[in-house]
Amino acid sequence: MPSPHSPNFMPTTTWNRHHVLSLADFTAAEYNTVLQTAASFQEVLSRRTKKVPTLQGQVVANLFFESSTRTRSSFELAAKRLSADTLNFAAATSSMTKGETILDTAKTYLAMGTDIMVVRHREAGVPNAIAAEMDRLGVKVSVLNAGDGQHEHPSQALLDLFTITTLIDPASPRLELLKGKKIAIVGDILHSRVARSNIWSLIASGAEVHLAAPPTLLPKLFAEYILEEVGVKNQQFIISSSPTPDCPLPTPQLFLHWQLEPALQNADFVMTLRLQKERMTAHLLPSLREYHQLFGITRTKLQLCKPNVKVLHPGPVNRGVEISSELMDDPEFSLIQSQVTSGVAVRMALLYLIGSSKV
Ligand code: NCD
Repeated sequence: MPSPHSPNFMPTTTWNRHHVLSLADFTAAEYNTVLQTAASFQEVLSRRTKKVPTLQGQVVANLFFESSTRTRSSFELAAKRLSADTLNFAAATSSMTKGETILDTAKTYLAMGTDIMVVRHREAGVPNAIAAEMDRLGVKVSVLNAGDGQHEHPSQALLDLFTITTLIDPASPRLELLKGKKIAIVGDILHSRVARSNIWSLIASGAEVHLAAPPTLLPKLFAEYILEEVGVKNQQFIISSSPTPDCPLPTPQLFLHWQLEPALQNADFVMTLRLQKERMTAHLLPSLREYHQLFGITRTKLQLCKPNVKVLHPGPVNRGVEISSELMDDPEFSLIQSQVTSGVAVRMALLYLIGSSKV
């Protein structure tokens, strides 16, 4: 198979997706196409010359209406490595301060010949609204959701998936590698778009997904929301608030815990989440100290997990709150830096697949 930097490269699976807004309806074939394409780009990124002509002449606009360090830089670098022209927009220094609307901003970038818009906004649904407007206008502009409110963050979940599947099989990362693995997602699940996107990809992989948080950050309603979204898979969900999850069903996939320990027991991977203080509208926690004691991930608590357990965090990290500072920097357990590195290859894959799709 020619590599994606060759002009003749076509992914083995036909890619029909014009926008990437959510992972809720991603198919196994699509996950695997992203993983395989990202692996090829990871190889390109290990070379001395890290740039390929794949998206030459295309314009990628980063429309970040909300702050970002790694996601914005990662998309920008990914686009540059593919030889696209990049435009960067930051709301605080834009005409939005003069009252311009989001759709008018998007149309301004459209008029400059933008091919792909990478959109982040603190309100859920903004990338979808821009994509709908582009479709309504009949233009071939693709939209990539780079995080919308508490809704989704598809590229983050895909880079998390790439990071852990590559760890298991560096030569051939694929969804099936996670079948039967136990993955704990711990922390501020209620406010986390990363958790939502990760739930879709991990469930699709056949992993056992254990969510753990205090009830204020993991309400039962959250399970109902997921149930509603997946519909047919209803019977595969279990809600457990007891230390030992009851799992009478043959293929249990999602567990909810209000204590940390049952989620960590024999886990292969632990995904920690930032406490999203800016998205909290009520006092949901007694104190950060107490939160760290009960739900903060430390080396000692990891002893409950499998011996070779690995820890992830999407960043930015509140050191000493959701994860201890020493664990965060411990290369034996922490995949945090490798997540950031994977992010560029995965975003190159997404830009490439979207940029080459002719729907
Ligand atoms: C996440 C985000 O912005 O949603 N970070 C990221 O993109 N790497 C998670 C967070 O802000 O906690």
